[in-house]
Formats: sequence, structure tokens, C-alpha cells
Amino acid sequence: MSTPPESTVVDRNLALELVRVTEAAAIAASNWVGKGDKNAADAAAVAAMRRAFDTVAIDGTVVIGEGEMDEAPMLYIGEKVGLYGKTGGGPVADIAVDPLEGTSITAKGGPNAMSTVALAERGGFLHAPDIYMEKLAVGPGLPRDVVSLEASMEENLRELAKAKKCDVSDLTVCMLDRERHKELLRACRAAGARVMLIPDGDVAGVVAVSQPESGVDIYVGSGGAPEGVLAAAALRCIGGQFYGRLLFENEEQIARARQMGITDPHRIFRLEEIAKGDVMFAATGVTTGPMLRGVRRFGGGAVTHSIVMRSKSGTVRYIEAHHHFATKPAAFVS
Ligand code: FBP
Repeated sequence: MSTPPESTVVDRNLALELVRVTEAAAIAASNWVGKGDKNAADAAAVAAMRRAFDTVAIDGTVVIGEGEMDEAPMLYIGEKVGLYGKTGGGPVADIAVDPLEGTSITAKGGPNAMSTVALAERGGFLHAPDIYMEKLAVGPGLPRDVVSLEASMEENLRELAKAKKCDVSDLTVCMLDRERHKELLRACRAAGARVMLIPDGDVAGVVAVSQPESGVDIYVGSGGAPEGVLAAAALRCIGGQFYGRLLFENEEQIARARQMGITDPHRIFRLEEIAKGDVMFAATGVTTGPMLRGVRRFGGGAVTHSIVMRSKSGTVRYIEAHHHFATKPAAFVS
């Protein structure tokens, strides 16, 4: 294998290569849509993503992955990925993955499951443990800190409505449909805001704040911290504000986070602290949602729909790809 000159930064646009990785994972997961087996769907996406990563010319390290080495057979935190992952020599990158965001959705054939990957320079991503994170996000073009995780839901809605020059009743709040969000939901309804409750998939929920056609003005509530990092990476590219606070359940989790470099368990992390520097994000729909169309199959192939973006240029690309399995390299066919 030829080794390129040593490079410590990601100095070229790898985003278009990343999308091939999410396409492969989405196609693999699409074999399991509606089949009632979320673990099999996830395993298929993970295996396909890992194979596809072997073709990307980076020296990558997974920092947000499918768990720790001893609990996850592949794409675990610390795993080396990419063409130069084992040898070194290529552009060094930290990688955040969620090969199948929405495993239960996929198993039920519900809307909005997707495969996601983000890439940053070494040290670019918050090394978040796999616990819950309290999340708050609004779209671009608003005053900095117009909303805060320290303010009440009522205050945030009031300030957001003022900044958007509308009434609270014009705002739509998106959150996961969970019992733990009962109080947030009550507060939104009492303030007169409209609410969009989603069954799963808060990466798409957060990104929706930056997509005017989604109709979502603010995202609130808790969900997976790894998904929070991926959502922050997407917002770094597309614009918007995001705040995350880790929700620790016990001392063991706090100790684990400390080992990962998080010393203040109460800290509210801003977007720029969760995903710093030049960040790239790619996602491919597995099932259709407001952001992406799901994988469509035809005899001998599939059509995928993806979004690819990079913070440095701010370019957002939507890619529809028609895959013919008979002529596609083996690494991309499941
Ligand atoms: P999975 O892909 O693991 O099924 O996660 C889906 C998801 O809805 C995430 O988007 C979200 O962050 C998390 O689960 C919320 O966790 P919980 O289902 O425990 O509320």
C-alpha cells in the first residue's frame, strides 16, 4: 500500500467519501426494515459501515461509536478506521458514528431512521460517554444565547418568540415522546406553543431547527449523548445554536467521563465545544423522514438519499445515488 506524506490535519474535502460510508450502512440496514429485529438491523449497518470505512483515505479513530471495545465488536470507541487506520500516514481524523440512528424505528418500519457519520480534526469532538444528554437547539440567524439550558421553558419560548418577532403560539417545539419529558411538554402547552412529539431519532429532531421547511423552531429534551455530538456536528455545518449537558446517573458514570476528559459534570457545553474546527457530516436515510428519503430497492440495486455538509465551506449537498449491486465494489454491497 502506498503511504501518502504525513498529515496531521484533514486538509481536503472528505465529505463526499464519507457519504459512501453512510450509503453502505443505510443499504445494509434497509434489508431489515420492518422485520422486528433492531439488533440485526444495527449489526448489519455497523458491519457495512466498517467495511466501507476501509476504503476512505484517512487515519481515523472512532471517538463516538458503538460502545467500548469489550462490549462492542466493531466501531467501538478507540477503534482505528480508514485506509491508513492501522498503518498511519494518512490525514488524521476523529470520527463519530451512529451506523443506524433509529434501530427501533427500522425494526418497525417507522419514519426517519438514518445512518450518520461525522469527522473532525484530532480532538475536535467532545468525548461523550454513552449516557443521556439534556439538549437545547435553535436555528441560525438568532442572537447568541437567545435560549439557555438554565432558563425555564417559558422564558426560552418568550425570548425565542421575541427574537423571531412572532408569538409563542407561532413556535413549534420538537422533543422525543417520552414520559421523562412530561414537565417540559406541560410547560410548552401551558405557554401556548405547538409541539411535535417524535418517537425516536433526535439527531434529525435537532437538525430540523436549521431546516426552515421542517417548521421546527426549537428542540428540547434529553436523549443519547453520542447522538448529541452528531447533531452538534451537523449544526456546526448548517448553522444554529446547540447546548448540551450530560445527565449522570451515578458516580461510576462521572468517573468514566473524567477519564474521557470531562472534569466538570455540570458543565453546559456549547456547539463549538462539542464539535470544533473543520467538521464534516454525512447522513443517509434508511426510512423516509422530513430530512431524507429512505432506501428504495429495485431488482439488483437501491436508490439512496443523503445529506453531506462541511463547516469550513458551509456547503450542504443532497445526493441521490442509484446503486447497481452487480457492478459495485464488494465493500459497498450487503
Ligand atoms: P437507537 O438508534 O439506539 O434506537 O436510538 C434512537 C434514539 O431515539 C436516539 O435518537 C435518542 O438520542 C435516543 O434513542 C433516546 O433514548 P431513549 O429511547 O432511551 O429515550
